[in-house]
Amino acid sequence: MFKASDYFNVLQQIERFFVNSAAGKPVIQPLDPVDLRTKIDLDLPREGMSLIDLQSEITDYLTHAVKTAHPSYFNQLWGGFSAPCFMGDMVSSVANTSMYTYEVAPVATAIEKTLVAKMGKLVGFDNPEGQFTTGGSNGNLMAMAIARHQAIPALKQEGMTAAPQLIAFVSEDAHYSFAKAASLLGLGSSQVWKIPVDDRGKMRVSELERLISAAREQNVRPFFVAATAGTTVRGAYDPFAEIAAIARREKLWFHVDGAWGASVLLSETHRHLMQGAEQADSVVWDAHKMMGMTLMCSILLVKQRGMMANAFSSRDTDYLFHTEEEEPMNLGNSTIHCGRRVDALKLWLAWKHLGDRGWEALVDRYFMLAARSQEIIESCESLELVVPRESLNICFQYIPKNPQFDPNDLTLKVRQVLLSKGIAMVNYAKIGEKVVFRLVICNNQTRLADLEAFFEALLAIARQLESNIKSG
Ligand SMILES: Cc1ncc(COP(=O)(O)O)c(C=O)c1O
Repeated sequence: MFKASDYFNVLQQIERFFVNSAAGKPVIQPLDPVDLRTKIDLDLPREGMSLIDLQSEITDYLTHAVKTAHPSYFNQLWGGFSAPCFMGDMVSSVANTSMYTYEVAPVATAIEKTLVAKMGKLVGFDNPEGQFTTGGSNGNLMAMAIARHQAIPALKQEGMTAAPQLIAFVSEDAHYSFAKAASLLGLGSSQVWKIPVDDRGKMRVSELERLISAAREQNVRPFFVAATAGTTVRGAYDPFAEIAAIARREKLWFHVDGAWGASVLLSETHRHLMQGAEQADSVVWDAHKMMGMTLMCSILLVKQRGMMANAFSSRDTDYLFHTEEEEPMNLGNSTIHCGRRVDALKLWLAWKHLGDRGWEALVDRYFMLAARSQEIIESCESLELVVPRESLNICFQYIPKNPQFDPNDLTLKVRQVLLSKGIAMVNYAKIGEKVVFRLVICNNQTRLADLEAFFEALLAIARQLESNIKSG
């Protein structure tokens, strides 16, 4: 049934893919959707192909894939390559199972529970429950659903007819998944009230208090506040302890979205950024971001046991969840998923491989590279750090010599040249009126020399564009 030799060629293609992901090779060869159709045969045939013939389809796929393990891939909050994770991914596919019952996933269930306990302890939860989910967005949705259930348990069966208008609070820099969650949960996205941030991108707690009072005056019901550990654009950490105190006083569920930034808990030096998060009711932590696992590898941690089953258990499931004795080991009743892939194995293998010390070294190295990038920006008169750096996001602009040139416009043009030449992939974002490069450090293949080369290339392109505009 399985012959290793059937797969050697694929492994060789994967090896070539990584050779082509090295510094100096293009990180991306942009393809517009029309071109793509001419390069890849997307049609599904009536007669099937042999495994050997599939190899050319795999070659096409890998040739045109973005090289997210390239050392100059800085575009998203994930990237790089982890060998133990790759092994875990393969094994998860081979020993294909679903996480819902202990019966079909005994080892995977025990592994997932081990990781929940370990990561919960790092957060500062004594005896947490938790589950892997299909991403931080999904974890945020589940946290909001648990909070809604705590606020109005009758809603689970009776629906919104039983509900007063519920209000959630997040900062204006929080991830868009909260608005999506509120709309999916029937609250409405406009019931997510956005709290202004200060000039470092942190939630203004005085504004949170003001808006909670405003909500109470309007006879609507505050139930949930989410703080962010590592905001998507600026990498800012909200003041958790102060928000926790307000949440306690106002009887709100306090959630921390640590999808991007909770991994600082792995470092003695940087874990202080999460101070106060231990007072949360729930925390989301993506291991597919800073920890470099493949997508998806994300966990929702809940401080008090039983909350997840309260919110998510369903009736008429005895065909799947057979006996009450088995229940404590079955994960399926405490989540919104039914079938769910084993994402815990790859993280467990990576943890065994790196150990706590290896994770710490990784996070510390990222902070070192981020600090070095900041120094490069601050020592260059043509570059400006637009917001103070708190973690691994570095938001900056190129400042044209001639003030008539628009730096926002130039940022977009420089990025486009970096992409079209395959030099680097770096994203952009808007902060206030400024369009900035958002450089993020979370790729384990990136070395200091790659960052230096990136800044050099960026400056050369910007200066060239400036001189073209002048002479044009
Ligand atoms: C702060 C924050 N929360 C949540 C998410 C969503 O995570 P996911 O892509 O795993 O759904 C992101 C994604 O970048 C994020 O930056």
